[in-house]
Amino acid sequence: MSLCVYQPLNSDRNEEEFCEITLTKHLGHSLPEICSLSDVVSELSKVFESEKVNVELVHYIMRSYKSNPAEWKKYAKFDRFKYTRNLVDDGNGKYNLMALCWGEGHGSSIHDHANSHCFMKILQGSLEEVRYDWPKEEEDELKESGRKILNLNDVCYINDSLGLHRVENVSSYDTAISLHLYCPPYDRCSVFNQKTGKKSQATVTFYSMYGKRNKDLKDISTPEDN
Ligand SMILES: [Fe+2]
Repeated sequence: MSLCVYQPLNSDRNEEEFCEITLTKHLGHSLPEICSLSDVVSELSKVFESEKVNVELVHYIMRSYKSNPAEWKKYAKFDRFKYTRNLVDDGNGKYNLMALCWGEGHGSSIHDHANSHCFMKILQGSLEEVRYDWPKEEEDELKESGRKILNLNDVCYINDSLGLHRVENVSSYDTAISLHLYCPPYDRCSVFNQKTGKKSQATVTFYSMYGKRNKDLKDISTPEDN
């Protein structure tokens, strides 16, 4: 499977419309209608059947879905101390689609994405994303390159060529839920200390799979990516 080079969109509606016209012309047929989370799962599965995956089409599918809690509540499982990763679909081994549930004040470490593409869509609440440049030298403090608040239904995109990031639910009174797509899937990534730039490896795990709590996780370290 190969992935097209992808230039992330900003959230400008005109740019999205322009992109959809271009995408329709490129595909030679109309874009799929995304009316539910089931449509997201089935259309993603079709996109990833192809050897060459159109990442702009993946972005279109993610941003076209309008969050409906009735459709994702079975994946919304929270932990008191740390955000959770809840598998929605394993994409036949080609990608992972998952819901991340963030309690009040929960945040990730600064991390990379193990050479994968990462899409993140807000299903409930808001999240702050802070980006960092890769450290130029070992033991360099990580330099912030930007930050933004992502609100309901917003989608952001990152891969390692765009830098590192951390994500946080900065609210002290609202939870947040985000839908993530990683392609290809991965179970290890690097996490970074902001002050020293020191890198270490983290294993990522699922708190629940297909709506069922993963009991085997009790003794496994907590997740570090998002
Ligand atoms: Fe991430």
